[in-house]
Amino acid sequence: NQPKNHILVIFGASGDLTYRKLVPAVFDLYNQNLLPEKFAILGLGRTDLSDVDFRAKMKSGIQQFALNKPDDENKLNDYLEKLHYFSFDTKDPDEYCLLKGKLRELDEACGTDNNFIYYMATPPNMYEIIPEQLAKQALSDESAGFKRLIVEKPFGYDLKTAQKLNKELLKYFNEEQIYRIDHYLGKETVQNLLVTRFSNGIFEPLWNRNYIHHVEITGAENIGVGNRGGYYEGSGALRDMIQNHLLLLVGLVAMEPPTLIDSTNIRNEIAKVFHSLRPIKEEEVAKYAIRGQYTASHIKGEAVKGYREEQGVADDSRTETFAAIKLFIDNWRWAGVPFYIRSGKMLPTRVTEIVIHFKSTPHHLFANDASICNNYNQLVIRIQPDEGVLLKFGMKVPGAGFKVQNVNMDFHYSDLSDTYLPSAYERLLLDCMLGDSTLYHRGDAVEAAWKFVDPILKAWKNDKNIPVHGYPAGTWGPEVSDELIEENDITWRYPCKN
Ligand code: BG6
Repeated sequence: NQPKNHILVIFGASGDLTYRKLVPAVFDLYNQNLLPEKFAILGLGRTDLSDVDFRAKMKSGIQQFALNKPDDENKLNDYLEKLHYFSFDTKDPDEYCLLKGKLRELDEACGTDNNFIYYMATPPNMYEIIPEQLAKQALSDESAGFKRLIVEKPFGYDLKTAQKLNKELLKYFNEEQIYRIDHYLGKETVQNLLVTRFSNGIFEPLWNRNYIHHVEITGAENIGVGNRGGYYEGSGALRDMIQNHLLLLVGLVAMEPPTLIDSTNIRNEIAKVFHSLRPIKEEEVAKYAIRGQYTASHIKGEAVKGYREEQGVADDSRTETFAAIKLFIDNWRWAGVPFYIRSGKMLPTRVTEIVIHFKSTPHHLFANDASICNNYNQLVIRIQPDEGVLLKFGMKVPGAGFKVQNVNMDFHYSDLSDTYLPSAYERLLLDCMLGDSTLYHRGDAVEAAWKFVDPILKAWKNDKNIPVHGYPAGTWGPEVSDELIEENDITWRYPCKN
């Protein structure tokens, strides 16, 4: 299944995303012969670059970041020939007719049949300008050729701005033309959640409130904000990771089996989960949500800065670099099952995982089985790194008596022969080229996710009594986040220890 001929138009082509992710990912597609016969990339940016300069810059990005390292110089050069650059001020409405002329010229030269994908790799304040100006030049018009628009997160800043953004986008493009990208949906292991759940007879019968005690989802990073302090100050962990990536994982874990594996059915089921999230009232936020901020510390003997010392961050910043939430999904399958989700920067390790904690046996027969910490069977779905699935269960320790010990049944993706895990952008760009939006967010689901986090954002902003707990960089966040889990003997899983 090959995409139709087209031009990929990248707004913000002099930025990091284009250099590190987009152009290398398209190169990976090219290397696997997955691009159409007639194809071009048109990079747009304010920096004044010639095609030659742009190609030279992108070549170095490909050499560093493509998964298929280019060993065939001719092939790499053939690919680079497809790259073009047009220096252009995105903010200036008058320049869009020049863009139209450039696109017409390139389309005729390349034979790309008037099919254009627009990728907005720009700061979000451009999202309201680009679609409108494209539409004014009839560049969103599909009467000849397809026109698709890829929107990078953040999709809004809160519920109100997300609604406004959707409304604006929909003035100029149809929902079917809009591709809201979340790189988590492009991860193999995230897609594998659907396969784990819906291709195995053994899990689905247990996948409900009768057998599952609680669900835990962690998105941990062991790095700080680096040079993104300026952006992060206006974002924080809740907007940056939870509203999008972690809630998506909640959606995939909790959704009902779709009737078909297609865009409408899968996205309907995810949206239904988001609509069933029990709203947390502003006055309950302190009970259900914990926020933290990393403070200066030493990791392996090295001094590490606190968040407030990072470049672009205010000395008295209250932006959270860690957030943990206890949530409920009010529907038939999940009534009463708590979901604990957390994400943070500067934690001890980089790991994203989902842990399904099954209920324990109704009656404890063996002397020590109840005393094993987190005695419940656990299914650990490791999204990254060391992608795989782990099932923990109790076995008899050889010898006298009946001593029980937890053991692991452990599958690693790397054990599959010929494993090639495509990058998220590679998979998602190919899907957009093919016109398949299954792995892209739909507007209504985005709004439903914002609706859930909005009261937390408001309470954190307005209620000065809700603390921002400091946690030393390199630890698992504020200790009080353990209090979200109210039951004795149950804690968060600490993945380093397995
Ligand atoms: C991005 C966030 O969306 O996801 C970053 O803006 C974060 O702050 C990143 O580091 C995490 O992605 P991954 O794929 O490394 O888990």
